[in-house]
Amino acid sequence: MNYNIDKCKIINLPVISDARGNLSFIENENHLPFSFSRFYYLYDIPGGSDRGGHAHKDLHQLIIAGSGSFHVHLDDGSKSRSFILNSPNKGLYICPHIWRSLDSFSSGSLCMVLASDKYDESDYLRTYDDFLTFIKS
Ligand code: TYD
Repeated sequence: MNYNIDKCKIINLPVISDARGNLSFIENENHLPFSFSRFYYLYDIPGGSDRGGHAHKDLHQLIIAGSGSFHVHLDDGSKSRSFILNSPNKGLYICPHIWRSLDSFSSGSLCMVLASDKYDESDYLRTYDDFLTFIKS
């Protein structure tokens, strides 16, 4: 599969809105280009923190700002693109082979991630050089 940054995109999630507030949901097969088997989240993020700084060999992810806002920077080795996530009803889909970093977290922000697989350190490309070598091979 030829993964590149053009495959990464904002996905609008369903919103059920009434006087009691908003409800959004995500169903496997219906809303995402992958099936998820893990949910993790970043919270209590100190101002000035940088997260990410790696790529994945096989993992697909959807990142949602559950609360507050933050920036996500993507790089496929040729092209780069940045997104501001600030809405719980929009998710950023990131395909494999994309170097990503996250910064500019607002106070109290919540970064929620759906991932296609369980945590596996061997799926990580932890240095930019390893990432470039991997995508060229
Ligand atoms: P890492 O993926 O490097 O964090 P981020 O991309 O948000 O900066 O993970 C940080 C640590 O947490 C690392 O030791 C691996 C561990 N971890 C798990 O044990 N399970 C998980 O699902 C995730 C995402 C990380």
